[in-house]
Amino acid sequence: MFSEKIQTGLIRQLNKESESSQLYLYMASWVEKKGYEGICEFLYDHSNEERTHMLKLIRYINKRGGNVVLNNISTMNITYRSLRELFMILFEHEKKISKEINFLVEISLHEKDYFTYNFLQWYVEEQVEEEALSKMILDKIELIGEDKGGLYLFDRDMKNFHKNKKL
Ligand code: FEO
Repeated sequence: MFSEKIQTGLIRQLNKESESSQLYLYMASWVEKKGYEGICEFLYDHSNEERTHMLKLIRYINKRGGNVVLNNISTMNITYRSLRELFMILFEHEKKISKEINFLVEISLHEKDYFTYNFLQWYVEEQVEEEALSKMILDKIELIGEDKGGLYLFDRDMKNFHKNKKL
């Protein structure tokens, strides 16, 4: 069993992952309606990944004898001005998640909970990828700018992204 402080931190994080999953899902649906068939596949796919991040935490908490608490998700009703704005928000979101993971790692060290410290290393590595991925997409969109042909090709590339994980 872990300390109350660790449990609170892990529960907070699993709810953040759940929020991330909802955010990606909302964004996927938003871009799908705009006609971006490839980008929406990527975002739907990533929403599922975020759910697995949440599940991993739930199962770890249960394994250690803790009690999971799930928060209500607030309603999302956002209109993005552009794809650039959407991916800027995603990039900022991932940076925020990284900070929260780092904070949890700090707590686990402070509490001398090396099981949790070890468990969190997967998330540390994952966040390096998550930040790099959202930044790479944002950079590409900024490079493409208003070029409709470029956006069309980019959307097409994104359609296969979740299959080969490479752009
Ligand atoms: Fe689970 Fe995108 O961080």
